[in-house]
Amino acid sequence: MKRALITGITGQDGAYLAKLLIEKGYKVYGTVRRSTSEKFVNLKYLNIYDKIKFYDFDLLELSNIQNVIKETKPHEIYHLAAQSFVPTSFQVPIVTTDINSLGTLRILDSINSINKKIKFYQASTSEMFGKVQQIPQTEKTPFYPRSPYGVSKVFSHWITVNYRESYNIHASSGILFNHESPLRGGEFVTKKITSSLTRIKHGSKEVLKVGNINAKRDWGYAGDYVYAMWLMLQQKNADDYVIATGKTHSVREFINLTLKYLNFEYKWVGQGMNERVINLNSGKTIIKIDKEFFRPAEVDLLIGNPGKAKRKLKWKPNTSLKKLVKLMVDYDVSQIKKTY
Ligand code: NAP
Ligand code: GDD
Repeated sequence: MKRALITGITGQDGAYLAKLLIEKGYKVYGTVRRSTSEKFVNLKYLNIYDKIKFYDFDLLELSNIQNVIKETKPHEIYHLAAQSFVPTSFQVPIVTTDINSLGTLRILDSINSINKKIKFYQASTSEMFGKVQQIPQTEKTPFYPRSPYGVSKVFSHWITVNYRESYNIHASSGILFNHESPLRGGEFVTKKITSSLTRIKHGSKEVLKVGNINAKRDWGYAGDYVYAMWLMLQQKNADDYVIATGKTHSVREFINLTLKYLNFEYKWVGQGMNERVINLNSGKTIIKIDKEFFRPAEVDLLIGNPGKAKRKLKWKPNTSLKKLVKLMVDYDVSQIKKTY
């Protein structure tokens, strides 16, 4: 039986990847940071909580990482844990760097000293392209990160390449573009939009406040993307791959798709910081722009070219943005119905 260790199993990708690996017959070990609040909602939602063995784990603690690797003896490590929210990285840049950059190095160095045969997946990101130097972005596009998060991930990306080349470790980086799902964290823009507009549709008086609605992202579905992670570790040779849909849409377009799917009659009015959305049935403002949600430096446009992954991994995205909105809103509606 193959054994896989997933760091960050309580996050969005950790849950979908654990489900995939369990279905493939793996024994799955998951790492969890202790906290006082409930962390296992995603794993319980996917009905896999009972099938995973959990280990206390923090990326800041080298001996803890080594002990977990020695105890679980994994064939594959999927390193997904990170401080993954870009705005927070501007607030806590040093902690973000320690977790994301040195955390990755701690794992790679542990693999190198404990068992070089362990295959390693690094969660790299399109945020590394930042102020993009080429459209669309490929594995060869130079990086120009625009946040401490992006910079921290450039380090973890290159240290993965370095351990592969220096020590012959099967270490691959997936440069994943934004991917979303019903289990996406609530502060990311897609989930914030679908959950708030669903609540408003069901009677909430709140106003959805957003930042830069002109930013464009290449959004895919997390369920499709974790399959690419697994494929990377099944290849004879480790390598780096862009995982993306090849299509880009603005935050404004995502809002429009959600409003339409929820059958709102609405209108955009005003300009710039005064732009807002009016619900034509109630006459009330339901979406506003708020400067609190702008970033010190923005990534304006991301669009990836997944050609290499298509050719070498035989991977392709299967979920359109419209379908993704439907998946997310249907889940949000089901949660509201459960509550009441
Ligand atoms: P997520 O939902 O934010 O999950 C992050 C996970 O990391 C959580 O399980 C979190 O645990 C854990 N974690 C954070 N700090 C830790 C620490 N110090 N020690 C141990 N665990 C820690 O992220 P995601 O969306 O699933 O993304 C997975 C990975 O892919 C991340 O590395 C992210 O940067 C990267 N990525 C994501 C996307 C995307 O669009 N989703 C795109 C490209 C790359 P808690 O539950 O304790 O917070
Ligand atoms: N979060 C958030 N909240 N973003 C907003 C808002 C808002 O109210 N209003 C506009 N945005 C814009 C952001 O400025 C950004 O341009 C875009 O929406 C997407 O923001 P997020 O959903 O927070 O994601 P991200 O692109 O910054 O980062 C995500 O994708 C990366 C891959 O490119 C994260 O999952 C990262 O961990 C991941 O690496």
